[in-house]
Amino acid sequence: MKLFEPYLIGDLLLPNRVVMAPMTRNRATGTIPQEMAMIHYAARASAGLIVSEATQVSARGQGYQDTPGIHTAEQVQAWRAVTDAVHREGGRMFIQLSHVGRLSHSDFLGAPPVAPSAVRPIGFIRTPKGLKPYETPWVPSASEVRTIVDEFGAAAASASDAGFDGVEIHGASGFLIDQFLQSGTNLRTDSYGGSLRNRLRFALEVVEAVAGSWAKSRIGFTVSPGGNHKGIRDDNPLETFSSLGSALSQEGIAYLHVMEEPIAEMSPAQLVRGSFRGTLVSSGSHTRDSAEEMLQSGAADLVAFGRAFTANPDLVEKLRANARLALPDPKTFYSGGARGYIEAVALKS
Ligand SMILES: Cc1cc2nc3c(=O)[nH]c(=O)nc-3n(C[C@H](O)[C@H](O)[C@H](O)COP(=O)(O)O)c2cc1C
Repeated sequence: MKLFEPYLIGDLLLPNRVVMAPMTRNRATGTIPQEMAMIHYAARASAGLIVSEATQVSARGQGYQDTPGIHTAEQVQAWRAVTDAVHREGGRMFIQLSHVGRLSHSDFLGAPPVAPSAVRPIGFIRTPKGLKPYETPWVPSASEVRTIVDEFGAAAASASDAGFDGVEIHGASGFLIDQFLQSGTNLRTDSYGGSLRNRLRFALEVVEAVAGSWAKSRIGFTVSPGGNHKGIRDDNPLETFSSLGSALSQEGIAYLHVMEEPIAEMSPAQLVRGSFRGTLVSSGSHTRDSAEEMLQSGAADLVAFGRAFTANPDLVEKLRANARLALPDPKTFYSGGARGYIEAVALKS
């Protein structure tokens, strides 16, 4: 099967086309990854590529409790232990760099969250002090936006010090980059908003900042064109995301990771395939068969699995043998603790 054939991203050889999708698991202590993370990721080293959980580039970029960062020396050192463990097991690991933007709360930092425009997200957020409505974000000036771009650049350099094999930029899920991209959350009239070209500017500047310490062939980018996370929306998503695909293609980054939430009855992979020439990673409810079908039809080059990896560290071996998969336990996704993370949970299928 194609799923088990090697694949070359730039000069990085993946032994198979199964990607472990980025998954936030809320197991850091004070934003520092723990030994548990080392065990968790190393156990999944047979994946063609592991993408880490979303990792904030700055304190202000955090929007969930107990998520790790990559902006202090202590975090870098802790991540180094994780990447070393993955490499010892023969694996490859990219870090997913994230900033949640408006999806944070002043309870995390004492300052309001930041976003391109003062558009409050729909719904509630779990802060260290309980469940609260989202706040109206603070709007930075253009030069203040540049300082956030620089935070991505510094985090990317730290990711290199931490021994990662590459960087995936989190442009999905209604996070900060997505907020700049989509017209419903970007009402700016300066160089970061107004026209489609200006809405793409922040994303492209982040790519360039990350490229300050990484070859373009080691940079990926996540998008979720069909998502409406916390009410994010765009007036013309087909145009926005196909233009983004073309721009990222021109940038020459290694891959685009597309979350398969249908958009205008189209598969998002189909939408960006037309505009992005690099490697395409598809993620979202894939099975062994749907993954193989994506690869055989040329709709994608790599397929990411998320939840299946939580319960099956040996997912690649099980898929290869067409063995029965253990069922993931959603109760342990964000619960903290060893259960369902480094200890299997037996669920009846
Ligand atoms: C527990 C959990 C945490 C997730 N965290 C992230 C994340 O940090 N970054 C991201 O881009 N996607 C995240 N996702 C989405 C996954 O990467 C993936 O796209 C999604 O789970 C669909 O794949 P699946 O059906 O194989 O699980 C998360 C999903 C789950 C289930």
